[in-house]
Amino acid sequence: MRIDPLNFEGFNRVLTGVVVPRPIAFVSTVSASGVVNLAPYSFFNAVAYDPPTIVFSSSRSAGYKSKDTLRNIEETGQFVVNIVVDPIAEAMNKTSAEFPEDVDEFEIAGLTQAPSEMVKAPRVAESPVNMECKLEQVVPIGSGEHAHGLVIGTILLMHVRDDVIDGHRINQEKLMATGRMAGNMYCHTSDRFEMVRPVYDPEKSLSTYR
Ligand SMILES: Cc1cc2nc3c(=O)[nH]c(=O)nc-3n(C[C@H](O)[C@H](O)[C@H](O)COP(=O)(O)O)c2cc1C
Repeated sequence: MRIDPLNFEGFNRVLTGVVVPRPIAFVSTVSASGVVNLAPYSFFNAVAYDPPTIVFSSSRSAGYKSKDTLRNIEETGQFVVNIVVDPIAEAMNKTSAEFPEDVDEFEIAGLTQAPSEMVKAPRVAESPVNMECKLEQVVPIGSGEHAHGLVIGTILLMHVRDDVIDGHRINQEKLMATGRMAGNMYCHTSDRFEMVRPVYDPEKSLSTYR
């Protein structure tokens, strides 16, 4: 099947069905007037080590209201990305309804605020990984009702729960990161396999495994 994205009804579902699984950024922010906000974003990834950079993309609005996360980040230049893991997956889902801006989603989801050090937005205490970030830029994508903002952020400080990290190695068994598939489907990261990466040897014109 050939698909022209501009002329295919439901292309959004096709796209989010094939780019899988996606990690989920649980983004906490504070508005300029001090209201705390928390919402999940799975158009999310890490894109550079130096400067340590993450991106996520938010639609400008959801139906009747503009998205609080994007507005808060544009207002304050700060946010925290908390990694969604299996034990907090249901809590994450509760925060994804389009609540009015004065609603505190930490309370809705029964999650605990932990103070951040570099930014005003609180961390999610129940998440084993929190990244305190400053906004680098918001790149506009699209227009009208489908307009998105691609948030590019620099990690100022990362917190990793002690039992999840050994040296620089993350223990994936303990992390239990949750993946987003299409629609309401999710996956665990408990089924893994190893593949050693080949190294190209120019003398033999061959790639070898080390
Ligand atoms: C797992 C999951 C991932 C989501 N990913 C995105 C996303 O990448 N971009 C987006 O605009 N909305 C995404 N949403 C929808 C937002 O979380 C939802 O619109 C939320 O109400 C926005 O909250 P806010 O207005 O407080 O920022 C996602 C929802 C779920 C459940």
